[in-house]
Amino acid sequence: MVYADMTQALTIVILAAGKGTRMKSNLPKVLHPLAGRPLLDHCYQTARSLAPHRIQIVYGHGGGQVKSALAHADAEWVEQVQQLGTGHAVQQAVPGIGDDQTVLILYGDVPLLTAETLASLVDEVNDSTLALLTVRLDDPSGYGRIVRNEHGKVLRIVEEKDASETEKEIDEINTGILAVRGRLLKKWLSRLQSDNAQGEYYLTDIIGMAVQDGVTVASQSPVSVDEILGVNDKRQLAYLERCYQLRQAQELMRQGATLLDPARCDIRGRVSLGSDVCIDVNVIFEGDVQLGDDIHIGANCLIKDSVIGNGTQILPNTLIDSARIGQQCRIGPFARIRPQTTIADQVHIGNFVEVKKSDIAQGSKANHLTYLGDSSIGAGVNIGAGTITCNYDGANKFRTVIEDNVFIGSSTQLVAPVRVEEGATIGAGSTITKDAPAGELTLTRAKQVTIEGWKRPVKKT
Ligand code: UD1
Ligand code: CA
Repeated sequence: MVYADMTQALTIVILAAGKGTRMKSNLPKVLHPLAGRPLLDHCYQTARSLAPHRIQIVYGHGGGQVKSALAHADAEWVEQVQQLGTGHAVQQAVPGIGDDQTVLILYGDVPLLTAETLASLVDEVNDSTLALLTVRLDDPSGYGRIVRNEHGKVLRIVEEKDASETEKEIDEINTGILAVRGRLLKKWLSRLQSDNAQGEYYLTDIIGMAVQDGVTVASQSPVSVDEILGVNDKRQLAYLERCYQLRQAQELMRQGATLLDPARCDIRGRVSLGSDVCIDVNVIFEGDVQLGDDIHIGANCLIKDSVIGNGTQILPNTLIDSARIGQQCRIGPFARIRPQTTIADQVHIGNFVEVKKSDIAQGSKANHLTYLGDSSIGAGVNIGAGTITCNYDGANKFRTVIEDNVFIGSSTQLVAPVRVEEGATIGAGSTITKDAPAGELTLTRAKQVTIEGWKRPVKKT
């Protein structure tokens, strides 16, 4: 999205240098995952969606780690060697800020802001207006408070640690998010002092300076309070994860999905879907998942980077990773479909069946207790219970080819490389090491014998 009145180029500065001591973790705070992605990436992606002229990320703690986790970011990295406060952090970005640009300040640990909220804030900015995002909170403690005069005009921001008892009662807080012209920002930043309770250069002091310079401070509030919440500890991280997941679930329902419990469906990536998709409880989607029409997903499934065709049923406790599954299939319960697997239409994969790097053609079935790895399986094949492709000799992997209309008897081992030709039948309990000819019955087991009068061993006294 490009914001409405793009008369001035936009520069976004993301502050991400803080340590995050309260996370009690070696991982830099902004790299803790929300829905499987670093907090900072959420902030970055939202920033990117505003189509700014440039994004600058101010980093400090765990710098190398942060940069490599965000290696995909089209951003400039600005180091803040010592963390002397939010004002000091923005000062580091000054060389990259043009006078006539609008500068939007974001925090790398505030992941849920929407592009709509930010675009509207940026839209408010002009040569004599600074735009500030504020909200009223039931419990404002810990935040900077917005001090207004009797006419409701913003005068300044006071940090909790510097606030008087009366100021602490103000319930309107500074979210930290603001937008202002570069020229003004640079002027005020150069005047910041650190004579406050924390001995820091507070970005918030520019609000008072703006008022003194006759610049209007226009405040806006986000649609939802969750948007401005930051992460300081694991409890807040968990809370924001739930907020985010609920948003995603609501979006799926808006698109027509039936969720048996929107609080028990997690999306760590993107899901697209057709009509009449029904999702039972405790389902997790990761990466890029594409669901067609009339799909039912049972409880406790994990589906990652996969495509599932119309009319397919995924039964409970099934794991699917990087696979393509056709139409009218029945997969699970308790099936595991691993990467590089392509399953055609009307295929049945049943309980305790693992499929890896295999192609299975139309109408084939493997219903129970089976491992199919590195295999090509034709159409109309029946794989008996307990069948295993022995695809690995301890050093290399080999393929098993099973042609159309083959019947593999139960408990067969197929020692790859091996081919079972069209229409062949393999007798139950066989260990197939050589190709089996088309249309014939091949089996390898010994004949059944009965040893008459045989006695079980008895325990020696
Ligand atoms: C800041 C605001 C406060 C506001 C609150 C909202 C100031 C002085 N105070 O307080 O009014 O209510 O955010 O959450 O701005 N950072 C750096 N370098 C630094 C210091 C901070 O990059 O030297 C980054 C942090 O990584 C973080 C953000 O700036 O992403 C905010 O810093 P934090 O220390 O959390 O600010 P607060 O004291 O919470
Ligand atoms: Ca904070």
